[in-house]
Amino acid sequence: ARKLILDLDTGIDDTLAIAYALGSADEVDLIGITGTYGNVTVRRGVRNSLAVLHLFGRDDVPVYPGVDHPLAYDPAVNGPWEPSAGSVAVHAPNGVGGATIPDSPRASEPDGSAVDFIIDAARTYGENLVIVPTGAMTTMATVLKTAPDIRDSGARITLMGGALTVPGNVSPGAEANISQDPEAADYLFRCGARTTMIGLDVTHQTALTRKGTAVWRALGTPAGDFLADMTDYYIDFYLAHQPEIGGCGLHDPLAVAAALDPMLVTTLGVNLKVDLDGAFRGRTIGDRARLADPDKHTQVALGVDVPEFLERFMTRITALAAK
Ligand code: BDR
Ligand code: CA
Repeated sequence: ARKLILDLDTGIDDTLAIAYALGSADEVDLIGITGTYGNVTVRRGVRNSLAVLHLFGRDDVPVYPGVDHPLAYDPAVNGPWEPSAGSVAVHAPNGVGGATIPDSPRASEPDGSAVDFIIDAARTYGENLVIVPTGAMTTMATVLKTAPDIRDSGARITLMGGALTVPGNVSPGAEANISQDPEAADYLFRCGARTTMIGLDVTHQTALTRKGTAVWRALGTPAGDFLADMTDYYIDFYLAHQPEIGGCGLHDPLAVAAALDPMLVTTLGVNLKVDLDGAFRGRTIGDRARLADPDKHTQVALGVDVPEFLERFMTRITALAAK
């Protein structure tokens, strides 16, 4: 089977991305989760990833902590990186909407390096590997800076982040994952790695309502209850702040779905950069210097088969949570 690495700031929709990946076990082998920051710190995100894997009976999947602050941030000067008040409001202080989930017995175990893990995996599996970053892009950029051969390893990157044709969600220009570390995202887009961007252009077309979470609650399982409690918090946040979406956006699981089946989305080839200065810091935009380059390294998803995705999302996650 093909191999998958998730690079997560776990996070409500990151948790749904884990569930989508585990519910797709006949298509893809989740070989590891790496921890980035954004919604939560790396430490909290790793703890959440371990707990979610334990809930689904998948203590076999390794979890590695990644880089825990932006490239341009100096913890020696500024102290340990902490999530913004905005991120805490979206995902709650525990990252999973305040829902209760027992810690994994592995909670204090992880060491090893996310960067080394991704480099080894890309060298081992090449085009059989897809990496899905859904938080700050710092670990992924560090991989490509540390081991430039990974760019041409054949491993694909399908990331959640950015907004090309719609406004951002943390500022008029910027989407959250890109704005966490604009320098890292800019490096990723401009280094020439084959990347598919699953941004707000498509994720805001995919909304989950309480009809969906009611299906999970009706299962009467610990996993079903946890997913419903967690996701209801997210839905309520969206209804209060972005009611036009009609539910919560399924950002991170859509990136996993598109990584497994690129035909779910339609894409436009654009060589991107990230605005690093001024009011538009963190905005993804076409790189004028490379726009005419016939080789498009980055495909930006602009269309998505919403009914098909929602069907897969509900079927796979409900079957997983029923056990
Ligand atoms: C992205 O930001 C995070 O809050 C979510 O987990 C998602 O990855 C959406 O902009
Ligand atoms: Ca995320």
